[in-house]
Amino acid sequence: MDDRVEIVEVGPRDGLQNEARPIDVAQKLALIEACADAGLRHIEVGAFVSPKWVPQMANSAEVVARLPKRDVLWSVLVPNMRGMAGLDAIEDHLVGEIAVFVSASEGFSRSNLNCSIDESIERLLPVIDQVKNRKLNVRGYVSCITDCPFDGPVAPSQVAQVSDKLMGAGCDSLSLGDTIGKGTPERVDAAVAAVLDVAEPSRVAGHFHDTNGRAIENVAVCLERGLRIFDSAVGGLGGCPYAPGAAGNLATETLVGYLHGAGFDTGVDETALMKAAKLAKGLRDGHH
Ligand code: HMG
Ligand code: MG
Repeated sequence: MDDRVEIVEVGPRDGLQNEARPIDVAQKLALIEACADAGLRHIEVGAFVSPKWVPQMANSAEVVARLPKRDVLWSVLVPNMRGMAGLDAIEDHLVGEIAVFVSASEGFSRSNLNCSIDESIERLLPVIDQVKNRKLNVRGYVSCITDCPFDGPVAPSQVAQVSDKLMGAGCDSLSLGDTIGKGTPERVDAAVAAVLDVAEPSRVAGHFHDTNGRAIENVAVCLERGLRIFDSAVGGLGGCPYAPGAAGNLATETLVGYLHGAGFDTGVDETALMKAAKLAKGLRDGHH
Protein backbone atom coordinates (compact mmCIF):
# COMPACT_ATOMS: atom_id res chain seq x y z
CA MET A 1 0.00 0.00 0.00
CA ASP A 2 1.20 3.49 -0.87
CA ASP A 3 1.59 5.33 2.44
CA ARG A 4 2.31 8.77 1.02
CA VAL A 5 -0.60 11.21 1.11
CA GLU A 6 -0.61 14.57 -0.67
CA ILE A 7 -2.41 17.45 0.99
CA VAL A 8 -3.82 20.30 -1.05
CA GLU A 9 -3.98 23.32 1.21
CA VAL A 10 -7.06 25.34 0.26
CA GLY A 11 -7.16 27.72 3.24
CA PRO A 12 -6.01 30.85 1.39
CA ARG A 13 -8.82 30.38 -1.16
CA ASP A 14 -11.67 28.13 -0.01
CA GLY A 15 -10.92 29.02 3.59
CA LEU A 16 -10.84 32.79 3.27
CA GLN A 17 -13.38 33.34 0.48
CA ASN A 18 -16.28 33.53 2.92
CA GLU A 19 -14.71 36.02 5.33
CA ALA A 20 -16.65 39.28 5.26
CA ARG A 21 -13.79 41.44 6.56
CA PRO A 22 -11.25 42.26 3.83
CA ILE A 23 -7.92 40.51 4.28
CA ASP A 24 -5.07 42.30 2.58
CA VAL A 25 -2.40 40.92 0.28
CA ALA A 26 0.37 40.97 2.92
CA GLN A 27 -1.79 39.00 5.37
CA LYS A 28 -2.65 36.43 2.72
CA LEU A 29 1.00 36.09 1.72
CA ALA A 30 1.99 35.61 5.37
CA LEU A 31 -0.53 32.77 5.66
CA ILE A 32 0.67 31.23 2.38
CA GLU A 33 4.32 31.39 3.54
CA ALA A 34 3.40 29.82 6.88
CA CYS A 35 1.71 26.94 5.04
CA ALA A 36 4.77 26.45 2.82
CA ASP A 37 7.03 26.61 5.91
CA ALA A 38 4.99 23.74 7.39
CA GLY A 39 5.88 21.57 4.41
CA LEU A 40 2.66 21.92 2.42
CA ARG A 41 3.67 21.57 -1.22
CA HIS A 42 0.39 22.20 -3.05
CA ILE A 43 -1.45 25.38 -2.11
CA GLU A 44 -4.50 27.07 -3.62
CA VAL A 45 -3.80 30.78 -3.23
CA GLY A 46 -6.70 32.63 -4.81
CA ALA A 47 -9.53 32.80 -7.33
CA PHE A 48 -9.95 34.81 -10.54
CA VAL A 49 -13.71 35.04 -10.08
CA SER A 50 -16.08 37.99 -10.17
CA PRO A 51 -15.24 40.38 -7.30
CA LYS A 52 -18.94 41.17 -7.07
CA TRP A 53 -19.69 37.55 -6.30
CA VAL A 54 -16.70 36.88 -4.02
CA PRO A 55 -15.21 40.19 -2.84
CA GLN A 56 -12.60 38.51 -0.64
CA MET A 57 -10.85 37.09 -3.74
CA ALA A 58 -10.62 40.49 -5.47
CA ASN A 59 -6.92 40.87 -4.59
CA SER A 60 -5.94 37.44 -5.94
CA ALA A 61 -3.98 38.90 -8.87
CA GLU A 62 -1.80 40.87 -6.46
CA VAL A 63 -1.30 37.78 -4.31
CA VAL A 64 -0.24 35.79 -7.38
CA ALA A 65 2.09 38.56 -8.59
CA ARG A 66 3.92 38.39 -5.26
CA LEU A 67 4.13 34.64 -4.69
CA PRO A 68 7.54 33.56 -3.39
CA LYS A 69 9.81 31.26 -5.40
CA ARG A 70 9.43 28.05 -3.44
CA ASP A 71 9.12 24.36 -4.13
CA VAL A 72 5.32 24.53 -4.05
CA LEU A 73 2.68 23.89 -6.70
CA TRP A 74 0.67 27.12 -6.60
CA SER A 75 -2.91 26.74 -7.73
CA VAL A 76 -5.70 29.22 -8.50
CA LEU A 77 -9.41 28.86 -9.19
CA VAL A 78 -10.60 30.09 -12.60
CA PRO A 79 -14.29 30.02 -13.67
CA ASN A 80 -14.09 31.29 -17.25
CA MET A 81 -11.95 32.89 -20.00
CA ARG A 82 -12.18 36.24 -18.23
CA GLY A 83 -10.49 34.70 -15.20
CA MET A 84 -7.87 33.08 -17.43
CA ALA A 85 -7.10 36.47 -18.99
CA GLY A 86 -6.66 37.87 -15.47
CA LEU A 87 -3.99 35.26 -14.75
CA ASP A 88 -2.33 35.68 -18.16
CA ALA A 89 -1.98 39.41 -17.52
CA ILE A 90 0.46 38.72 -14.67
CA GLU A 91 3.96 38.67 -16.09
CA ASP A 92 6.12 35.64 -15.21
CA HIS A 93 3.68 34.34 -12.62
CA LEU A 94 4.58 31.16 -10.76
CA VAL A 95 1.16 29.47 -10.89
CA GLY A 96 1.47 25.84 -11.97
CA GLU A 97 -2.13 24.71 -11.75
CA ILE A 98 -5.58 26.00 -12.61
CA ALA A 99 -8.61 24.67 -10.79
CA VAL A 100 -11.97 24.73 -12.53
CA PHE A 101 -15.23 23.89 -10.82
CA VAL A 102 -18.56 22.35 -11.63
CA SER A 103 -21.39 21.03 -9.51
CA ALA A 104 -22.87 17.54 -9.49
CA SER A 105 -26.25 19.13 -8.77
CA GLU A 106 -28.24 21.61 -10.88
CA GLY A 107 -29.35 23.75 -7.93
CA PHE A 108 -25.81 24.51 -6.76
CA SER A 109 -24.64 25.08 -10.33
CA ARG A 110 -27.30 27.78 -10.74
CA SER A 111 -26.43 29.40 -7.44
CA ASN A 112 -22.64 29.22 -7.67
CA LEU A 113 -22.09 29.57 -11.41
CA ASN A 114 -25.32 31.09 -12.65
CA CYS A 115 -25.82 28.35 -15.29
CA SER A 116 -26.73 24.66 -15.74
CA ILE A 117 -24.20 21.83 -15.28
CA ASP A 118 -23.93 21.28 -19.04
CA GLU A 119 -23.47 24.99 -19.70
CA SER A 120 -20.78 25.16 -17.01
CA ILE A 121 -18.83 22.35 -18.66
CA GLU A 122 -19.23 23.97 -22.11
CA ARG A 123 -17.88 27.20 -20.66
CA LEU A 124 -14.85 25.40 -19.28
CA LEU A 125 -13.76 23.71 -22.51
CA PRO A 126 -11.87 26.75 -23.90
CA VAL A 127 -10.41 27.44 -20.44
CA ILE A 128 -9.06 23.89 -20.19
CA ASP A 129 -7.66 24.13 -23.75
CA GLN A 130 -5.85 27.31 -22.89
CA VAL A 131 -4.45 25.89 -19.66
CA LYS A 132 -3.15 22.89 -21.62
CA ASN A 133 -1.52 25.23 -24.15
CA ARG A 134 0.24 26.94 -21.27
CA LYS A 135 1.45 23.48 -20.10
CA LEU A 136 -0.17 23.94 -16.70
CA ASN A 137 -2.07 21.33 -14.66
CA VAL A 138 -5.84 21.39 -14.63
CA ARG A 139 -7.71 20.30 -11.52
CA GLY A 140 -11.46 19.77 -11.78
CA TYR A 141 -13.58 20.30 -8.69
CA VAL A 142 -16.89 18.50 -8.50
CA SER A 143 -18.98 19.99 -5.71
CA CYS A 144 -22.03 18.60 -3.90
CA ILE A 145 -20.99 14.96 -4.33
CA THR A 146 -23.55 13.71 -1.79
CA ASP A 147 -25.87 16.61 -0.98
CA CYS A 148 -26.90 19.91 -2.51
CA PRO A 149 -28.18 22.79 -0.37
CA PHE A 150 -30.99 23.31 -2.90
CA ASP A 151 -31.75 19.89 -4.45
CA GLY A 152 -31.10 17.54 -1.50
CA PRO A 153 -29.35 14.17 -2.00
CA VAL A 154 -27.24 13.75 -5.15
CA ALA A 155 -27.04 10.38 -6.95
CA PRO A 156 -23.58 8.78 -7.29
CA SER A 157 -24.26 8.25 -11.01
CA GLN A 158 -24.63 12.01 -11.41
CA VAL A 159 -21.24 12.58 -9.72
CA ALA A 160 -19.64 9.97 -11.99
CA GLN A 161 -21.17 11.52 -15.10
CA VAL A 162 -19.86 15.00 -14.32
CA SER A 163 -16.45 13.54 -13.36
CA ASP A 164 -16.28 11.64 -16.63
CA LYS A 165 -17.02 14.81 -18.59
CA LEU A 166 -14.29 16.73 -16.75
CA MET A 167 -11.71 13.99 -17.34
CA GLY A 168 -12.84 13.79 -20.98
CA ALA A 169 -12.37 17.55 -21.28
CA GLY A 170 -8.72 17.17 -20.24
CA CYS A 171 -8.57 17.58 -16.47
CA ASP A 172 -5.46 15.99 -14.96
CA SER A 173 -7.14 15.37 -11.63
CA LEU A 174 -10.45 15.70 -9.83
CA SER A 175 -11.38 16.92 -6.39
CA LEU A 176 -14.64 15.53 -5.05
CA GLY A 177 -16.28 18.00 -2.70
CA ASP A 178 -18.80 17.36 0.04
CA THR A 179 -19.45 21.08 -0.17
CA ILE A 180 -21.93 21.36 2.71
CA GLY A 181 -20.45 18.63 4.89
CA LYS A 182 -23.60 16.54 5.08
CA GLY A 183 -22.08 13.40 3.56
CA THR A 184 -22.07 10.22 5.61
CA PRO A 185 -19.22 7.74 5.09
CA GLU A 186 -21.62 5.30 3.35
CA ARG A 187 -22.80 7.90 0.85
CA VAL A 188 -19.32 9.33 0.28
CA ASP A 189 -18.12 5.79 -0.37
CA ALA A 190 -20.87 5.25 -2.96
CA ALA A 191 -20.03 8.52 -4.74
CA VAL A 192 -16.28 7.76 -4.75
CA ALA A 193 -16.86 4.20 -5.96
CA ALA A 194 -18.92 5.53 -8.88
CA VAL A 195 -16.20 8.04 -9.81
CA LEU A 196 -13.52 5.33 -9.69
CA ASP A 197 -15.32 3.69 -12.62
CA VAL A 198 -14.28 6.69 -14.73
CA ALA A 199 -11.00 7.91 -13.13
CA GLU A 200 -7.88 6.35 -11.59
CA PRO A 201 -7.66 6.71 -7.78
CA SER A 202 -4.27 8.44 -8.17
CA ARG A 203 -6.05 11.30 -9.94
CA VAL A 204 -8.86 11.76 -7.44
CA ALA A 205 -8.89 13.88 -4.28
CA GLY A 206 -11.37 14.10 -1.42
CA HIS A 207 -12.52 17.55 -0.27
CA PHE A 208 -14.53 17.57 2.94
CA HIS A 209 -16.24 20.19 5.02
CA ASP A 210 -16.71 19.36 8.67
CA THR A 211 -20.27 20.60 9.24
CA ASN A 212 -21.43 17.37 10.86
CA GLY A 213 -18.04 16.36 12.27
CA ARG A 214 -17.71 13.42 9.88
CA ALA A 215 -14.94 14.72 7.63
CA ILE A 216 -12.29 12.38 9.04
CA GLU A 217 -14.54 9.32 8.66
CA ASN A 218 -15.08 10.41 5.08
CA VAL A 219 -11.33 10.65 4.56
CA ALA A 220 -11.03 7.13 5.98
CA VAL A 221 -13.43 5.61 3.44
CA CYS A 222 -11.56 7.40 0.63
CA LEU A 223 -8.25 5.97 1.89
CA GLU A 224 -9.86 2.51 1.81
CA ARG A 225 -10.80 3.15 -1.82
CA GLY A 226 -7.16 4.02 -2.62
CA LEU A 227 -7.39 7.82 -2.70
CA ARG A 228 -4.15 9.52 -1.62
CA ILE A 229 -4.91 13.22 -2.13
CA PHE A 230 -7.00 15.32 0.28
CA ASP A 231 -7.89 18.99 0.44
CA SER A 232 -8.01 20.83 3.75
CA ALA A 233 -7.68 24.33 5.20
CA VAL A 234 -5.38 25.42 8.04
CA GLY A 235 -7.33 26.39 11.12
CA GLY A 236 -10.47 24.82 9.62
CA LEU A 237 -11.13 28.06 7.74
CA GLY A 238 -14.03 28.15 5.39
CA GLY A 239 -17.58 27.90 4.28
CA CYS A 240 -18.81 28.56 0.76
CA PRO A 241 -20.61 31.85 0.04
CA TYR A 242 -23.06 30.11 -2.32
CA ALA A 243 -23.71 27.04 -0.16
CA PRO A 244 -25.93 28.02 2.75
CA GLY A 245 -25.06 25.96 5.81
CA ALA A 246 -21.58 25.02 4.67
CA ALA A 247 -19.24 25.06 7.65
CA GLY A 248 -15.46 25.17 7.62
CA ASN A 249 -13.19 22.91 5.63
CA LEU A 250 -11.61 19.97 7.34
CA ALA A 251 -8.72 21.52 9.29
CA THR A 252 -5.30 20.65 7.87
CA GLU A 253 -3.92 20.08 11.38
CA THR A 254 -6.72 17.58 12.12
CA LEU A 255 -6.14 15.80 8.81
CA VAL A 256 -2.37 15.64 9.25
CA GLY A 257 -2.69 14.43 12.86
CA TYR A 258 -5.07 11.71 11.75
CA LEU A 259 -2.91 10.64 8.79
CA HIS A 260 0.31 10.52 10.80
CA GLY A 261 -1.49 8.52 13.52
CA ALA A 262 -2.66 6.06 10.87
CA GLY A 263 0.91 5.61 9.60
CA PHE A 264 0.79 7.81 6.51
CA ASP A 265 3.56 10.18 5.47
CA THR A 266 2.54 13.73 4.47
CA GLY A 267 5.83 15.67 4.58
CA VAL A 268 4.14 18.18 6.90
CA ASP A 269 5.74 19.35 10.15
CA GLU A 270 3.01 19.43 12.79
CA THR A 271 4.68 22.06 14.96
CA ALA A 272 5.11 24.48 12.06
CA LEU A 273 1.56 23.67 10.95
CA MET A 274 0.18 24.80 14.32
CA LYS A 275 1.80 28.20 13.71
CA ALA A 276 0.02 28.46 10.35
CA ALA A 277 -3.27 27.39 11.97
CA LYS A 278 -2.89 30.04 14.65
CA LEU A 279 -2.27 32.67 11.99
CA ALA A 280 -5.33 31.47 10.04
CA LYS A 281 -7.59 31.64 13.09
CA GLY A 282 -6.27 35.14 13.86
CA LEU A 283 -7.22 36.28 10.35
CA ARG A 284 -10.67 34.79 10.74
CA ASP A 285 -11.28 36.28 14.16
CA GLY A 286 -9.86 39.65 13.22
CA HIS A 287 -6.91 39.81 15.63
CA HIS A 288 -3.47 39.76 14.11
P1 HMG B 1 -22.14 35.44 -14.49
O1 HMG B 1 -22.84 36.51 -13.80
O2 HMG B 1 -22.91 34.27 -14.93
O3 HMG B 1 -21.33 35.86 -15.74
O4 HMG B 1 -20.91 35.00 -13.59
P2 HMG B 1 -21.24 37.13 -16.55
O5 HMG B 1 -20.31 36.72 -17.62
O6 HMG B 1 -22.60 37.63 -16.91
O7 HMG B 1 -20.52 38.21 -15.62
C1 HMG B 1 -21.15 38.97 -14.62
C2 HMG B 1 -20.18 40.02 -14.10
O8 HMG B 1 -19.03 39.41 -13.54
C3 HMG B 1 -19.66 40.92 -15.20
O9 HMG B 1 -19.39 42.17 -14.62
C4 HMG B 1 -18.37 40.26 -15.59
O10 HMG B 1 -17.46 41.15 -16.18
C5 HMG B 1 -17.85 39.80 -14.26
P3 HMG B 1 -20.38 43.42 -14.81
O11 HMG B 1 -20.50 43.55 -16.29
O12 HMG B 1 -21.67 43.02 -14.16
O13 HMG B 1 -19.65 44.52 -14.14
N1 HMG B 1 -16.98 38.64 -14.36
C6 HMG B 1 -15.74 38.57 -13.86
N2 HMG B 1 -14.99 39.46 -13.19
C7 HMG B 1 -13.76 39.06 -12.81
N3 HMG B 1 -13.26 37.82 -13.05
C8 HMG B 1 -13.99 36.92 -13.73
C9 HMG B 1 -15.28 37.28 -14.15
N4 HMG B 1 -16.24 36.63 -14.83
C10 HMG B 1 -17.27 37.47 -14.95
N5 HMG B 1 -13.50 35.72 -13.96
C11 HMG B 1 -19.14 33.63 -12.80
C12 HMG B 1 -20.21 33.83 -13.82
C13 HMG B 1 -18.76 32.19 -12.70
C14 HMG B 1 -17.95 34.46 -13.21
C15 HMG B 1 -19.63 34.14 -11.47
O14 HMG B 1 -20.78 33.42 -11.17
C16 HMG B 1 -18.62 33.95 -10.38
O15 HMG B 1 -17.53 34.52 -10.35
N6 HMG B 1 -18.96 33.14 -9.39
C17 HMG B 1 -18.11 32.91 -8.27
C18 HMG B 1 -18.17 31.51 -7.93
C19 HMG B 1 -17.20 31.21 -6.79
O16 HMG B 1 -16.09 31.70 -6.72
N7 HMG B 1 -17.67 30.36 -5.88
C20 HMG B 1 -16.90 29.91 -4.79
C21 HMG B 1 -15.89 28.88 -5.23
S1 HMG B 1 -16.56 27.25 -5.53
C22 HMG B 1 -16.40 26.45 -4.03
O17 HMG B 1 -16.07 27.06 -3.07
C23 HMG B 1 -16.60 24.97 -3.99
C24 HMG B 1 -15.27 24.23 -3.97
O18 HMG B 1 -14.47 24.65 -2.88
C25 HMG B 1 -15.52 22.73 -3.87
C26 HMG B 1 -16.37 22.30 -2.71
O19 HMG B 1 -16.26 22.81 -1.58
O20 HMG B 1 -17.14 21.37 -2.96
C27 HMG B 1 -14.48 24.48 -5.24
MG1 MG C 1 -14.85 23.80 -0.57
